[in-house]
Amino acid sequence: MIRYNSGETEESHRPIQKLKGVVPSVEWPIIEPLIERVNALKSEKNAVVLAHNYQTPEIYHCVADFVGDSLQLAVQAQERDADIIVQAGVHFMAETSKLLCPEKTVLIPSLEAGCSLASSITGEDVRKLKNKYPNVPVVTYVNTSADVKAESDICCTSANAITVVESLGVERVILLPDEFLSQNVAAMTDVEIIAWKGRCEVHERFTAGELRAVRGSTPDLSILAHPECSPEVLEEADFAGSTSALIEYVREKRPEKVMMVTECSMSDNVSAEIGEGVEFIRPCNLCPHMKTINLQNIIESLELMRYEVTIPEDIATEARGAVQRMVDLGLKGQNFEGGTMKDIVVEDSLSLSSMETLSQ
Ligand code: 13P
Ligand code: SF4
Repeated sequence: MIRYNSGETEESHRPIQKLKGVVPSVEWPIIEPLIERVNALKSEKNAVVLAHNYQTPEIYHCVADFVGDSLQLAVQAQERDADIIVQAGVHFMAETSKLLCPEKTVLIPSLEAGCSLASSITGEDVRKLKNKYPNVPVVTYVNTSADVKAESDICCTSANAITVVESLGVERVILLPDEFLSQNVAAMTDVEIIAWKGRCEVHERFTAGELRAVRGSTPDLSILAHPECSPEVLEEADFAGSTSALIEYVREKRPEKVMMVTECSMSDNVSAEIGEGVEFIRPCNLCPHMKTINLQNIIESLELMRYEVTIPEDIATEARGAVQRMVDLGLKGQNFEGGTMKDIVVEDSLSLSSMETLSQ
């Protein structure tokens, strides 16, 4: 007989056991059949689930074949020997997988899984920027559409943005589209950065004042922040890096109390993995796009082979080049420690259209 409790049983190897402490056991009878169905469909169809670190614990711990940050997911898409990739993440991640693995079927379980950064800029915006800054290379954050990547020289993620910018060996780069990431990179390098006014709707909500208040009321707190937060927030943090760099920090240092200044599921996922001994202090913010992916729509995605990601070949060829050049640089990145804040130029649609008006 199956016992849905937190005690040791002969069935303690069941994937759902990994959710102890983060998902109440009363919910297990509802979740477990869904986990079993996803795992059966994966075997039947030779599919893998690649899940971003922001996915909920039942996806992250119970059905994902690989979990990671955007850079690690891109590398894994290429390395996995599967016919089908189900991207448990947002649309730009699924597009990146498709660019790197044109021969594989890539499915995204929800059409609502967008990203405020990806929707902040178009390929046409990048063409106008290139007119304004001829011969300045364009480095594009992977949180963009294939159309935008196609106009770029090379992509980057939060894990390797500093490394990629410096790899070009030039004095000035256009780094798109996250204003805060660009300011945070500018603080770490002598390369002059021209930015775009895009924001992550999750990370822009954190404030330095909020962090100071939590630190004031919580002695011995370690604060870890994602570089999509503002430079003021990063100044208050003890450490900043990609989602995987933040997880690695907690795994290695096991701080007594930690606040992960990023999407909420990160704390749940790390807490489920490392168990007792580290206290996770909220607040955190939810990404509404990441949260449109769930076990039910992963099942539907595999049963109905939906929603398949396709990219027009002319765009794909150019965009693939930009992503592949980043992957070819390797996984070694750099975290955001000890920078000096600088003023940088931040462009937007308005500043580009005023330039057009002047030239008429
Ligand atoms: P990472 O590449 O650090 O996982 O970040 C992706 C993302 O969308 C963060 O909001
Ligand atoms: Fe986009 Fe922000 Fe959500 Fe990441 S957390 S997917 S950057 S909206």
